[in-house]
Amino acid sequence: MTPEFRRLFGLDPEVQQSAPGRVYLIGDHTDYAEGFCLPMPLAHLTQVAMARADSFRAASLSNGETLSFNPSGAPKGDWTDYIAGPIAELAKRGIVLPPVAVLVRSDVPQGAGVSSSAALEVAVIRAGLALVGAAMTDVEVARAAQAAENNYCGVQCGILDQMASAVGRPGKALLLDCRTNEGRLVAVPPAFRFAVVHCGVGRRLVDGAYNARRAAVEEAARLLGLRSLRDATASDIASLPDGEVRRRARHVVGENARVLAAVAALEAGDPRRFGALMTESHYSLAGDYDVSTEALDRLVESANAAGAYGARLTGAGFGGCIVTLIPPGEAEGWWAKVKAANPQSWTVQL
Ligand code: GLA
Repeated sequence: MTPEFRRLFGLDPEVQQSAPGRVYLIGDHTDYAEGFCLPMPLAHLTQVAMARADSFRAASLSNGETLSFNPSGAPKGDWTDYIAGPIAELAKRGIVLPPVAVLVRSDVPQGAGVSSSAALEVAVIRAGLALVGAAMTDVEVARAAQAAENNYCGVQCGILDQMASAVGRPGKALLLDCRTNEGRLVAVPPAFRFAVVHCGVGRRLVDGAYNARRAAVEEAARLLGLRSLRDATASDIASLPDGEVRRRARHVVGENARVLAAVAALEAGDPRRFGALMTESHYSLAGDYDVSTEALDRLVESANAAGAYGARLTGAGFGGCIVTLIPPGEAEGWWAKVKAANPQSWTVQL
């Protein structure tokens, strides 16, 4: 990014850092119930170049904008908040950056549910640390990035996306325990080829519906006298009054078990078993959790009909992407069939 940095800021970059987007292989809507999930970093990266400057300025090669920002001031409500927020969080931890020029290049698709904002926050923190010669562990980086999103950007997300970006490693899945925030890297054998496909319809009406799901899950735990659904069993769920709260809780408890079974399938090198768990997860998210859409359902069905071992919506739902496990060596032919049945869809990663 050196030539672009020089052209835009008249300076040489002093440091360059990057962080990936992520996809949840399995384990959705479990994090806020202290459950398990299994993200994996994507090959797509957000890169950040940084140098000391006269004032805080940021440029994006994605949208061509150059804007000023102020980490000690109020959020502006634009993409520079994802740069100002992390710099403000570093300052709270005693790592005060001088005014900097920041250049961002990202091939992580935005609004697709693959954590473009977490990737930017993590890359900014790493660049800031490198600039002043400070160090933090990967988990501390994830915590600071989450704090930036909570405190500065005003989004009450969990730590999952930032952990997946900061702690994840290429070619490895990350089994995250959202009770302790501890992660275990699990190698992904070559027989497991995951594709990520966008259904062509962006996520819609997510916030209200997301909060309603969380409320139902908290209500279920309260009715059962538990701190969270992490401690609930299938027979606890069966004892809940029939209705929406029971269906939501059944998804969470089933999904936690599927994540652990999926890790076992990964470690046993059994893609068929892993794929079957993915498809089960999709129908639980669609039937019990009500977060799928027609386009996502059709895409999952076509992915499986075209020869995938399994497929599921990934992330919050209500649009965005599916993740699917396909036999290696058959990707092109598989995609041609899926695209023919879903002309609006496009590949994020094949
Ligand atoms: C969104 C949230 C995550 C998680 C997923 C669903 O992406 O940011 O914390 O709850 O939905 O698994």
